[in-house]
Amino acid sequence: MSGPGPLVDRALTPDDLDAYLRLRETTFGYPGRSDEVLAAFTARLPRTLGAFVAGELASTVTRHDYRIHVAGTTVAAGGFGSISTAPEHRRRGHVARLMHASLAAGRDEGQGWNLLYPFDAAFYARYGWASVPTGVLLELTPEHLPSGTPRHLRRVDGPAAAGLAAPYARAAASRTFADTRNVGPWDVWQELDGAPGEGLLRYASDSAFVALRLRYVDGEPRMEVIDLGWSDAAGRDAVWGTLAGFRGHVARVRIHVPWDDPVALDRVRGHAVTGHAGLMARVADVVLALSPLRSVADDDTPLDLPPLHLRVVDPFAAWNDGVWRLVPGPTGTSVTPSRSTPDATLDVRGLALLVSGAGAPLNARRAGWADGSGRALATVAALSAGRRPYRSLVDAF
Ligand SMILES: CC(C)(COP(=O)(O)OP(=O)(O)OC[C@H]1O[C@@H](n2cnc3c(N)ncnc32)[C@H](O)[C@@H]1OP(=O)(O)O)[C@@H](O)C(=O)NCCC(=O)NCCS
Repeated sequence: MSGPGPLVDRALTPDDLDAYLRLRETTFGYPGRSDEVLAAFTARLPRTLGAFVAGELASTVTRHDYRIHVAGTTVAAGGFGSISTAPEHRRRGHVARLMHASLAAGRDEGQGWNLLYPFDAAFYARYGWASVPTGVLLELTPEHLPSGTPRHLRRVDGPAAAGLAAPYARAAASRTFADTRNVGPWDVWQELDGAPGEGLLRYASDSAFVALRLRYVDGEPRMEVIDLGWSDAAGRDAVWGTLAGFRGHVARVRIHVPWDDPVALDRVRGHAVTGHAGLMARVADVVLALSPLRSVADDDTPLDLPPLHLRVVDPFAAWNDGVWRLVPGPTGTSVTPSRSTPDATLDVRGLALLVSGAGAPLNARRAGWADGSGRALATVAALSAGRRPYRSLVDAF
């Protein structure tokens, strides 16, 4: 029982659709009742936990199911969306309780990670999610991008999966948190399936691809790069070379560039657009998240990493809280509970930073999220297999 009436937390059913849309009117805006909207929201109902106060839907958390790349492996992950509480029911702990239950349910289904796009990172940080860098959104002229190598990408028509899936898969495998794009609530490829006349242009080679849209604003052509990726230096040059073909033609380009790419670093001053969605990541389950990680370098050559005892601090997801013995190997890491004295301690947010390649041990120490042996922390960081985070804006949810 809680305050104004009996409290029940349960998954939504088709009978709750109207209440769900009504709640959204007070949080994200009423989505309407088109056939498309009703189908999309009906599909979410079984994956949406609701808090009912005296029979009224007060709060929801939806868990989308994905597969993502982490450190050169692919793993199941949840993505939280539709996190909302009606104004008259706020600050009673409904969302915190639903997130906890939904994290546990995702773990039961094998999800080692959870991702979300925060309205306010501080709200989720207290529950163990860490902000991780993804892309930098730039708005500039094509002349501000590198010249690259022209004519290496070919224009591809037809379904997006036919032209872009192979180079996407190679590019995504070199990134942590990139989506595998074969599980999910909506099909991103559909969005990239341009019909003739829609102005959606796609170019690809074996090792790179770029999808872009041309639009006329006040008679002036503008380009929006919707998705891009490369798996080697030649592919990256080929993407810039394709975009350079639009020099003297389009006035402005809007493009989401991986945060650690030299172009993002060179152009962030003066050209970065603020206000787009950031990304947060959480280790939902220590065993599921760490077991697949291998002791390898970025080119998959084996690394000799020593075993260690790691204390993980995670009061919100208490199943993670405690000391773990990690024995890294070239095909995975053995993760078992332990009673030994830990070599190092990591807050669960520091753990996410290190194994995702988002931060180094010193960053985690300075955030107050890491303590103990530098050798042990360096070992945990090495499990990132030389990858760093990036997730395309197309895959935001
Ligand atoms: C953000 C939102 C979901 C919070 O829902 P809620 O049910 O009030 O959340 P909880 O009661 O579980 O809050 C947990 C804690 O966060 C605090 N909190 C709630 N809203 C907060 C806010 N906007 N900023 C900072 N702290 C907040 C609560 O006081 C509570 O702290 P406590 O446990 O120390 O008392 C709700 O305000 C909402 O629906 N906002 C509009 C939609 C939105 O932005 N959703 C998030 C999309 S990513």
